[in-house]
Amino acid sequence: MKYRTLPRTDLQLSAIGFGCWAIGGKWWGDDVDDARSIAAIRAALDHGINWFDTAPLYGHGHAEELLAEALGSKRHDVIIASKVGVRWKEQLNDHAFSDLSPDHIIEDCECILRRLRIDTIPLLQVHWPCECDTPLEATLEALMALREGGKIRHFGLCNYASRPLTQALAYAPELACLQTPYSMLRREFEFALRDTVAPAGEQTLGVLAYETLCRGLLTGKFGPAPRFPSTDLRHSDDRFREPLLSRAQPLISALRVVGSKLNVPPAALAIAWVLRQPGVSVAIVGAKRPEQVADNVRALELLGREKVWQALAPHIDRTRV
Ligand SMILES: NC(=O)c1ccc[n+]([C@@H]2O[C@H](COP(=O)([O-])OP(=O)(O)OC[C@H]3O[C@@H](n4cnc5c(N)ncnc54)[C@H](OP(=O)(O)O)[C@@H]3O)[C@@H](O)[C@H]2O)c1
Repeated sequence: MKYRTLPRTDLQLSAIGFGCWAIGGKWWGDDVDDARSIAAIRAALDHGINWFDTAPLYGHGHAEELLAEALGSKRHDVIIASKVGVRWKEQLNDHAFSDLSPDHIIEDCECILRRLRIDTIPLLQVHWPCECDTPLEATLEALMALREGGKIRHFGLCNYASRPLTQALAYAPELACLQTPYSMLRREFEFALRDTVAPAGEQTLGVLAYETLCRGLLTGKFGPAPRFPSTDLRHSDDRFREPLLSRAQPLISALRVVGSKLNVPPAALAIAWVLRQPGVSVAIVGAKRPEQVADNVRALELLGREKVWQALAPHIDRTRV
């Protein structure tokens, strides 16, 4: 494993972090199995993965509880990154919305500490930007108060655009990171965000890239018309349907061909590409089973393979979904 330190922090993270959304058991189909999820988390530890991204929303608390169970006493040694600020309404089909009021942030944090059975959360992130009236400053002050009180060590933001991120950095320069989507198929990070986190090419804010496999699409395992149960969020994800699916197929075929020549899974190529991009600190990758973790960490073998990246560049650059 390789490790990267987030700028201005003592957070030394493995280049690949384990994403816990799917193992929460909601929205990722009918094949999520706690015993297999625990085995996947333990495989991650064996491969040198030292951080785990989770959230109360993931399985409505189940992902955090399962993570604590799988890690056992190691939960005190690894870096757990959780999130605050999302509520859901079970009576409205689990409709989720953000509440960034200081009271909710503090209450959410206490619940996370209880579920994870730890005293301090190493990294607490705001899950989504505010959808109600709480000013950004009030949210940041709540996070600073949690830090002062020893409940968290660092805080970050997820899914913020460049302008509010710049405002947040001005108000709270100790902000540790931004979590944002980035993959060969989803490249909006390259516009204003990259310049905000790495002005003139110098990384000033840590970036945790998520959905690096495009929810599994870039593993190359799906055929031309994948079918998902209604319990799987990919059932209604346009990227798994026409016309977008066909637009991604030439790239996915190229990943299969290059992967088979190098004897690495396409997933490893997709993750390695993200890890090589300027502005990215580390990649979060979701996994449901140990074999997936083993495939995904092979990304690290590919980081310096310049000829491979030259060969793939035209396929990546001509693909837009
Ligand atoms: N901050 C946010 O708002 C936000 C939003 C989204 C995600 N995230 C974080 O980022 C993490 C990763 O994103 P994601 O889980 O949405 O997408 P992802 O990492 O692109 O895809 C993960 C899924 O791909 C499949 N997969 C993984 N490795 C594989 C392999 N080697 N071979 C075959 N299939 C493989 C698994 O699902 P199947 O086996 O079912 O195909 C897995 O659940 C999440 O778990 C979460 O921690 C954060």
